[in-house]
Amino acid sequence: MIGHMLCHLLPILFLGHGLLGSLVAGGSDGDQFVYTGFTGADLTLDGSATVTATGLLELTNGTTHQKGHALHPAPLRLRGSPNGTVQSFSVAFVFGIVSSYLDFSTHGLALVVAPGSRSLSSALTDQYMGLTNAQDGGKATNHMFAVELDTVQNLEFHDINANHVGIDINSLSSVLSNDAGYYHDKNGSFQNLSLISREAMQVWVDYDGVTMQIDVTIAPLATVKPEKPLLSCIYNLSTVLVEPSYIGFSSATGPGNSRHYVLGWSFGMNRPAPVIDITKLPKLPQLGSKPRSKVLEITLPIASAALVLTVGTVLILLVRRRLRYTELREDWESEFGPHRFAYKDLFHATEGFKDKHLLGAGGFGMVYRGELQKSRVEVAVKKVSHGSKQGMKEFIAEIVSIGRIRHRNLVQLLGYCRRKDELILVYDYMSNGSLDKYLYTEEEDDPTLDWAQRFRIIKGVASGLHYLHERWEKVVVHRDIKTSNVLLDKEMNGRLGDFGLAKLYDHGANPQTTRVVGTTGYLAPELVRTGKATPLADVFAFGTFLLEVTCGQRPIKQDEQGNQFLLVDWVLQHWHGESLLEAVDPRLRGEYNSGEVRLVLQMGLLCAHPSAAARPSMQRVLQYLDGETPLPEMTRSDLSFNMLALLQRKGLNVMSCPCSSTMMSSVGTISDLSGGR
Ligand SMILES: *[C@@H]1O[C@H](CO)[C@@H](O)[C@H](O)[C@H]1NC(C)=O
Ligand SMILES: *[C@@H]1O[C@H](CO)[C@@H](O)[C@H](O)[C@H]1NC(C)=O
Ligand SMILES: *[C@@H]1O[C@H](CO)[C@@H](O)[C@H](O)[C@H]1NC(C)=O
Ligand SMILES: *[C@@H]1O[C@H](CO)[C@@H](O)[C@H](O)[C@H]1NC(C)=O
Ligand SMILES: *[C@@H]1O[C@H](CO)[C@@H](O)[C@H](O)[C@H]1NC(C)=O
Repeated sequence: MIGHMLCHLLPILFLGHGLLGSLVAGGSDGDQFVYTGFTGADLTLDGSATVTATGLLELTNGTTHQKGHALHPAPLRLRGSPNGTVQSFSVAFVFGIVSSYLDFSTHGLALVVAPGSRSLSSALTDQYMGLTNAQDGGKATNHMFAVELDTVQNLEFHDINANHVGIDINSLSSVLSNDAGYYHDKNGSFQNLSLISREAMQVWVDYDGVTMQIDVTIAPLATVKPEKPLLSCIYNLSTVLVEPSYIGFSSATGPGNSRHYVLGWSFGMNRPAPVIDITKLPKLPQLGSKPRSKVLEITLPIASAALVLTVGTVLILLVRRRLRYTELREDWESEFGPHRFAYKDLFHATEGFKDKHLLGAGGFGMVYRGELQKSRVEVAVKKVSHGSKQGMKEFIAEIVSIGRIRHRNLVQLLGYCRRKDELILVYDYMSNGSLDKYLYTEEEDDPTLDWAQRFRIIKGVASGLHYLHERWEKVVVHRDIKTSNVLLDKEMNGRLGDFGLAKLYDHGANPQTTRVVGTTGYLAPELVRTGKATPLADVFAFGTFLLEVTCGQRPIKQDEQGNQFLLVDWVLQHWHGESLLEAVDPRLRGEYNSGEVRLVLQMGLLCAHPSAAARPSMQRVLQYLDGETPLPEMTRSDLSFNMLALLQRKGLNVMSCPCSSTMMSSVGTISDLSGGR
């Protein structure tokens, strides 16, 4: 009854809104518009997109694996004359992302200019954000310009992290991207923003038709547009966009049940986008408690129908039960029998993959903690969404064979399970979390690791990697060594996780192109060049790891001016300046064995040498670490390189733009096989 009344009242209540909201300013030429809320707005909507009763443009509605588009109905007149170039335009919009998890949301939303809803109709959900699909991504015929607000790190698009803003031309691999945030007007300092904070934020996108400069700026709702844009690059959009083109928004969900909203939007052609009156915007929904099943509440009181309902409920439960535990099993899998987990067991171990068991999430999917009912063994269960069947057999064979590896510095893979579009991997649970969390805690005073602990972890990881490279029956290249892939067990031993997983994405990828899998800052130059993963490429990443653990700094550093440089170059400068110990993590407060620190730093430089031939094998590394063999004297000419310059010469010059953090392919990996979030 009350609900019914509300429905009637709402149109009246929001009539004022509607009038304000529709095209107010702006000539009849449609070169300008502003929406303050979307009640009554004439938008071209498709997929899950809808306008809510309160006037929010809801692009996705909390259902997983959906996409939604909302386009301004009239085409843009981008070019002044039929063969003219694309003129200046300016866009402002206010958005908000509401996910039911505080630290996980899929997949993001984008402002898009494209030839219309038909061109977007073949786009996919999930990481494709409703913009492209696997075949068309990157094609010039997409004629698409987009600004993505991306909340998941996807390896295939070289995403820098799970909270970034990117400029996209025809492809979801951004031409330029950066952490979401803004530069403070007064002191220029960078302020982080979390896209999934459930707070409304404003974005400005400006294109200058003469200089061809694209600027993207983002700020909290109450903040005036910051002077310094977050992203700025020159791109001739006349070479991209065609007429007619439409402007609007695209969004998609993946495994997470996020809602993506636009609260207000304005556009100006050859003039600034009209200011959006933020006091008149509709409010983002507040997350209440989750709706629960009403079935039981209804069945109990109605006694006469009880029997029918009971039978019905039992049937439904039986069917649901079957569906719930459905697995994908193929003939070839019989040989891997012992390593195959029943989905039902994993389901129970994680209480149905309940949120409270979620350990983390990343580009690969989600990781849950669970306890196997029969054995009471604690496990980390990783759900990897994987559509492609291609190469799955080889991959499973490899995973199973790798699963036979036992080493105290490797995270044990216990087995796997398959469902439609989903691969589930079961690992030993590591109670102390991943190493990066200890190195990069937020607070100065948070507990960190002392040098003795770090040195032990270094030795452990070296020993695990040595085993993979030289001791096991086959050479296993890890491909993704980094601090977030080093997990700490109960005794704080370092254990390498996720080995071999990066390969899944090689199999799944277009077989014509060898894609480089690895993580920004850890990729050896020859790997970038040839795409061939070798043990010595692992040694390179291990070198970066050594520097990171000793200096307490990330592989890519940024100075106050926003210039980026590589940690290895910075340590090298200290080595040349004979001030090596100044590079040591200040959080160690000078308490360390300087002989060991020197050894590790110099070995880090040697391992991260641009020439693969100069790097030691892991066998050698162990000998150096144990003091069995002294580290060779390194001369200035041995170590006269500048890694950044080297990589740039290989065409990786994106970094010369101070606002970019994109450098190379990066793979999103989930480090959280562990507690310690
Ligand atoms: C969300 O949108 C999809 C696609 O239109 C639809 O099938 C689904 O029922 C919607 N879910 C809700 C909760 O409105
Ligand atoms: C515009 O370009 C088309 C195709 O290139 C050409 O046929 C036409 O003559 C041009 N029009 C003008 C006004 O330049
Ligand atoms: C810059 O100003 C902001 C707001 O006053 C403040 O939060 C931030 O800490 C300042 N940063 C620096 C480096 O002074
Ligand atoms: C901002 O976020 C980046 C990346 O997540 C992080 O490295 C940095 O420490 C954060 N800065 C602040 C001031 O929170
Ligand atoms: C931009 O591209 C258009 C279309 O290809 C071309 O006509 C124009 O000269 C380009 N502008 C500049 C400055 O290169």
